[in-house]
Amino acid sequence: MSIMSKVLRLAGALIVLGVIVILAIMFVPTQRTPVQAQIASDDVVVASSGEYVSRLGDCMACHTVEGGKPFAGGYSIDSPLGAIYSSNITPDPEYGIGNWTLDDFRAALYDGIGKGGHRLYPAMPSANYRKLSEADIASLYDYLMNEVEPVAEKAPETELPFPFNQRWGLRLWDWVAYKDAGFEPRYNDPVLDRGAYLVEGPGHCGACHSPRTALFVQSGYNAEDSKFLTGGVIGGWYAQPLRGSNSVSAYWDEAQMVSFLKTGRNAHSGVAGEMTAVVSHSLQYFTDEDLTAIAKYLRHISVDTESSPRVLNVEAEKSTAAMLLAASPDMELGARLYLDNCNACHFSAGRGADGVFPELVGNSMVLADEQGGFLDVILNGAEMPSTATRPSRLRMPGFRERLSDDEVAALASFVRQAWGNNAGPVTAKTVAEVRATTSK
Ligand code: HEC
Ligand code: HEC
Ligand code: HEC
Repeated sequence: MSIMSKVLRLAGALIVLGVIVILAIMFVPTQRTPVQAQIASDDVVVASSGEYVSRLGDCMACHTVEGGKPFAGGYSIDSPLGAIYSSNITPDPEYGIGNWTLDDFRAALYDGIGKGGHRLYPAMPSANYRKLSEADIASLYDYLMNEVEPVAEKAPETELPFPFNQRWGLRLWDWVAYKDAGFEPRYNDPVLDRGAYLVEGPGHCGACHSPRTALFVQSGYNAEDSKFLTGGVIGGWYAQPLRGSNSVSAYWDEAQMVSFLKTGRNAHSGVAGEMTAVVSHSLQYFTDEDLTAIAKYLRHISVDTESSPRVLNVEAEKSTAAMLLAASPDMELGARLYLDNCNACHFSAGRGADGVFPELVGNSMVLADEQGGFLDVILNGAEMPSTATRPSRLRMPGFRERLSDDEVAALASFVRQAWGNNAGPVTAKTVAEVRATTSK
């Protein structure tokens, strides 16, 4: 494209954007939803204790700093524009939400509107919490007001550069991003509806596992939207698709899915990256009934039959394993590096060991187009979380010091092609980028 046509396109885009902004400011209502007194879903959604709802929503993960007082805020969330700090949501009347009414609280969760009417930054996933039932909101409010220790400490102010510090501008974004409030049960099956509620609402799985538009709006908030849960990128990691016949929701059976969500491990995989904290702060506290409901719902939106659709290439698996076992001196570099560094735990068939060492064959992190997660694990290692039912923190060592960029590229390319895996090669340049942006 010539420079001139690029400039014209840009000018055109700016004019369109300008018009949208003016229209939006003129017409977007300030308060999108009136107080949501009744939501259709209350009869299917089991009302739970407020503390349990806070686990379902993972409020702790963002509203508590490591080693800090629960819910006192100050946790910093990196955004391309600067750090966004979470608020103090303890019942302290001055620095927390002690003098908030239930209506104020609901507006924050549902509409992303703080007390006094200012817009909250979307780092707070209100667009997903819009599905919370009234019963759950009320018990969450009760819990935060009456059972959480008040903390009289001011959370740091978020200071983004102009124009992003103009919170009224978020009105436009909210208008695009916020879909209807409330949760509609639709499966005529209380277990599936409960699973849908947990995933689409409080669990906010879509915030990481759905793609985002150019405006950074989550694509899809429920299973009827075909983009919902089809995979997203978060902090350089690929949060894999959770639906579709190629996803683990189809490949793993219910028990394997429940085990992964509850303990961060199963026969095929071990949790890593941003998902580790989701398991340790939130999912490990879900009841087995709720985890089973999630597994059933994910499976329901992924496959029609009970059989696993993933077909692995048995011949290719055998030939890679045989090649590694033979360990001939003229083996390619990637295979040699695998044998020297990985084989002891993941084995020559790439099958690992149940609940201990993840499978590398058919592994969605290994095969992802977004290579950051796989390379991060090789360079920096990974550790499973310690959970109540599986306390051991199994750990994979990092190879940052031991392997050069060229070596990691050859090794990773080998693993992405071995045993019938069928993903493109990794370049040393990509490895260098991941090395520079991640740390041990
Ligand atoms: C992914 C991170 C994240 C999660 C999870 C999260 N929050 Fe937030 N929350 C934030 C951030 C960041 C802010 C501050 C936004 C701002 O300053 O505009 C915030 C703001 C709020 C506020 C407004 C407080 C004020 O003083 O304006 C309330 C209330 C709140 N959150 C409650 C909750 C509850 C309840 C949950 C669990 C159901 C929850 N949050 C889960 C990140 C999160
Ligand atoms: C000492 C044993 C050990 C060695 C050696 C080892 N790993 Fe691992 N690996 C593990 C464990 C344990 C995990 C699970 C960690 C977790 O889930 O946080 C893991 C996780 C992984 C994962 C993430 C899989 C997933 O589904 O989450 C990949 C990819 C991986 N290893 C590749 C490799 C490669 C490539 C090598 C060689 C450079 C290697 N590993 C060497 C033990 C090992
Ligand atoms: C903060 C972001 C985030 C949230 C929220 C989140 N995930 Fe994840 N999830 C990830 C990332 C990143 C990975 C990739 C790392 C891995 O495989 O361990 C992942 C991996 C997974 C996997 C393994 C997928 C595979 O192909 O191996 C499952 C299953 C999963 N998540 C389920 C869920 C469910 C269910 C929820 C909601 C209750 C959820 N996640 C919420 C970030 C997130």
